[in-house]
Amino acid sequence: LDNGLALKPTMGWLHWERFTCNTDCDTDPRNCISEQLYMQMADVMVKEGWKEAGYEYVCIDDCWPSHKRDAKGRLQADPNRFPGGIKKLADYIHSKGLKLGIYADVGKNTCAGYPGSLGYYETDAQTFADWDVDLLKFDGCFMERTLIAEGYMNMSKALNKTGRSILYSCEWPLYEWAIKQPNYTAIREYCNHWRNFNDIFDSWSSLKTILEWTASNQKIIVPAAGPGGWNDPDMLVIGNFGLSHDQQQSQMALWAIMAAPLLMSNDLRDICPRSKELLQNRMIIAINQDPLGQQGYHTARLMDFDVWERPLFGNRLAIAIMNRQELGGPRRFPISAVPGWKICVPQCNVTQILPQYKELGVQSHQKELVLSVNPTGTTLLTVTPLSSNLRKLHW
Ligand code: DGJ
Repeated sequence: LDNGLALKPTMGWLHWERFTCNTDCDTDPRNCISEQLYMQMADVMVKEGWKEAGYEYVCIDDCWPSHKRDAKGRLQADPNRFPGGIKKLADYIHSKGLKLGIYADVGKNTCAGYPGSLGYYETDAQTFADWDVDLLKFDGCFMERTLIAEGYMNMSKALNKTGRSILYSCEWPLYEWAIKQPNYTAIREYCNHWRNFNDIFDSWSSLKTILEWTASNQKIIVPAAGPGGWNDPDMLVIGNFGLSHDQQQSQMALWAIMAAPLLMSNDLRDICPRSKELLQNRMIIAINQDPLGQQGYHTARLMDFDVWERPLFGNRLAIAIMNRQELGGPRRFPISAVPGWKICVPQCNVTQILPQYKELGVQSHQKELVLSVNPTGTTLLTVTPLSSNLRKLHW
């Protein structure tokens, strides 16, 4: 969507995977969906280096509103859980130099049964603009599938009409795939990013199905991505309960390769140092935010390794090699087996970013560089052709 936003994949925090629809503030005040949760996340984001690393949006998901619209038909926040209201919360988030995201649904109800926006697109867009909201995640429950495209387009127009810059996060293709192959040219025209596939869960099996889906549909979805519009494989679940550290590294590496929005869903108030370091890794974030803005793709499955590559600005390449085996120990992988390794003819400079940072120096296609990759882990590299490669072309 050409609204000047999401020129790079969005970075921030979104409550859903970790906090779901917990509205029980009486017995679980620390984890329930309330204004306090977003204020505390914002505080930590500023204090603990998240904002400095690039994480900017603090996003509300489902279960924030009251079950009833107000007398003028406007959505209103649940008064017990958001006593200050959303405008006040937005002011607080802005005072921290961050941005606020909110959630609504294209249909009659949200997935959790709160009021949907069907019949109220202009009213709701204007309400969000009046509250100084900066992002809208628009869900697709309780909507006739044949009307999904139209609904998402109409909300996009309604947001535009408010005159406020509001980043528009869609789930249009996810809901439309049920009836047909979505029109990604149109989706890109109306949305800043879009969910294609099932919700992520805090598990390796969930991650695998998302990667599998992305690889099998890459011919359709990868060309749609670029500055202003991105495929969204869903939240980062790093720092929670379900992934080993190797698997967390795999998620971070692959989300960088896929040019995915980096929306963490975890508890930043209580996160282990290794997960924090991984999520704040400047080199991985730089790959995710690369100025060329081209999404990477799966290039090979060899010896039960998955190889992914992403072209970067300045003729560089990011390569991710994931060991799919869930048995045994670290396995050796000769880098020369990677299709993109041709950019190393005659020589290139290789930096290993994961599992740990290491300059691997000048490599050539003749020299055998062998990596060691842990089960369900990923080795992430950047490869820079030496200028001599280019000079050779000119001569
Ligand atoms: C379905 C979406 O895909 C999820 O990300 C989340 O927003 C839930 N709905 C909320 O009900």
